[in-house]
Amino acid sequence: MTPSTATPRRALITGGANGLGLATAHALLAQGAQVAIGDISADQLKMATQSLGSDRVLPLEMNVTSPASVRLAVEACQKAFGGLDTLVNSAGVIHFAPLDEVSEQDWDRVIDVDLKGVFLCCQAAAPLLRQSGRRSRIVNIGSDASKIGWPLIVSYVAAKFGVVGLTKSVAGELAPYGVTVNCVCPVGVSTTGMGQHVLRWKMDLTGQTPEQILANTASQIPLKRNPSEADIVNAIMFFLADSSDFLTGIALDVDGGMLSTAAISGTG
Ligand SMILES: NC(=O)c1ccc[n+]([C@@H]2O[C@H](COP(=O)([O-])OP(=O)(O)OC[C@H]3O[C@@H](n4cnc5c(N)ncnc54)[C@H](O)[C@@H]3O)[C@@H](O)[C@H]2O)c1
Repeated sequence: MTPSTATPRRALITGGANGLGLATAHALLAQGAQVAIGDISADQLKMATQSLGSDRVLPLEMNVTSPASVRLAVEACQKAFGGLDTLVNSAGVIHFAPLDEVSEQDWDRVIDVDLKGVFLCCQAAAPLLRQSGRRSRIVNIGSDASKIGWPLIVSYVAAKFGVVGLTKSVAGELAPYGVTVNCVCPVGVSTTGMGQHVLRWKMDLTGQTPEQILANTASQIPLKRNPSEADIVNAIMFFLADSSDFLTGIALDVDGGMLSTAAISGTG
């Protein structure tokens, strides 16, 4: 029988100063959680802390690619919250270039943030998650690029496929301690920092307006709309819920049916 877990969560969200991380922080705070938002951008952190407007928020300047920085962030959570039972790995970057033009530096940056960063955060947080005294959770943010290849973003796709493998492996290691580890794999959300970056790139590539691009992506989704940030946060919160206690090692498509219905244009 699952122990009672009414205590509010104590969470660290990487990439928590913007986009999906920040939206998840809002959702966790609404449930009474204590939430550390870890981010490399000091300016974004300042704005995010203001927008969250709660004394249960701990802003942490951190770089997920640095073991020392990650360790310090986890120690800060331990000090401020007395422990940690929730880790959401949302920090991420993307890089666009044809295969021939991807420099080693570009490759390393994306793999470091999007894959190594998730590993370092899972590793550093694991001791606290194991001993939290409540069912702990890790949720990693993959992508539709965790499941299918996309041209012009090879490093991102490689990193995001890796996040699924990492999720499943860490899930097995932490399962004996009641810690669940899952991954959400969203299709493009245009409103976040990365989403806006992708939109600008598509505009340059195609000469289309944002409206045309968004209409085109929506038309390729069986449910015929683009996702909102809330669609993704709902999936994250589903895995964080105490009621998801028997789910681990899952990489959940949050894509309006795109990957599972063969409805991508030209394939059906
Ligand atoms: N927006 C989308 O279309 C989309 C789709 C699928 C998956 N995702 C994934 O969702 C996650 C969140 O992305 P988002 O769309 O909210 O983008 P975002 O740019 O709004 O948020 C990402 C945050 O990560 C932070 N960050 C970057 N490098 C960091 C580092 N080294 N250390 C700490 N923080 C760092 C950024 O400062 C930023 O605040 C990413 O992992 C992304 O790959 C996004």
